[in-house]
Amino acid sequence: MAETLLRVENVCKHFGGIYAVDGVNMNIREGGIWGLVGPNGSGKSTLFNTILGLQHPNSGGIYFKGQRTNNMAPHQIYDLGVVNGFQIPRLFPSLTVLDNMLVAARGQQGDGFFNSLFLREKWQKQEELLTDEALDILELIELRKHIFSTAGELSGGQRKLLEIARALMAHPTLLLLDEPAAGINPVLGKKVFQKLQDLSCSGMTFFIVEHRLEILFEFASWIYVMDKGKTVAEGNPEDIVKEAAFYQAYLGKE
Ligand SMILES: Nc1ncnc2c1ncn2[C@@H]1O[C@H](COP(=O)(O)OP(=O)(O)OP(=O)(O)O)[C@@H](O)[C@H]1O
Ligand SMILES: [Mg+2]
Repeated sequence: MAETLLRVENVCKHFGGIYAVDGVNMNIREGGIWGLVGPNGSGKSTLFNTILGLQHPNSGGIYFKGQRTNNMAPHQIYDLGVVNGFQIPRLFPSLTVLDNMLVAARGQQGDGFFNSLFLREKWQKQEELLTDEALDILELIELRKHIFSTAGELSGGQRKLLEIARALMAHPTLLLLDEPAAGINPVLGKKVFQKLQDLSCSGMTFFIVEHRLEILFEFASWIYVMDKGKTVAEGNPEDIVKEAAFYQAYLGKE
């Protein structure tokens, strides 16, 4: 069985009297697309925020590759390889699409005064490789023809795609995406998920909140269902749709 990447152990996060996340347990193993679904306000984004260090849980434990991350800062969690598609790092609206991709790449050789002066050749080679990689990713999400547009000129859906593309440039071990298919047409949404699935076969792991269940369920290997701060069901997509708790979460009745 694949190695556990992310373990969420009895995590609670409340805001005053609101129990946004209320004793959640999860075990996300390496590889594949892991889905998180549930009605509005069920605590999905709050759970993501605690995993990313944007909010600290009130109790419970979050472990990435066995290391407790509860009280780490977002950049420390990012350095461990847990990347958020939409918050870190942010888009630069006045830079071109291509430049936005290049600055999102992790640990560039040219970073720093010394490297940029003395490792010029190595840096240029790396820049070429990164550009090739960026173009491949942009081709896939149909943004290649916009490489010289500024990010600010893109439509809302295109900006969202660019955020996903930039997150991929950071070579995350675990990529968290909160509603990647929202605002994108269904055909492109499916293509994006198809690409994520291809990448997951080469070792990347995705944890995705998505309201477009028909797309998510086609590609996810495991689904967690949240309702009122708790996980009420989990399983593979074929089994989850047979679970009463899944329907109860959405319909709000027995
Ligand atoms: N910073 C905050 N302060 C107070 N309450 C909050 C805060 N963040 C979230 N909540 C509340 O916590 C609950 C869970 O919210 P959360 O955004 O995590 O839900 P969600 O499952 O992501 O919903 P959606 O599907 O609409 O995005 C909601 O009742 C919400 O109002
Ligand atoms: Mg949310």
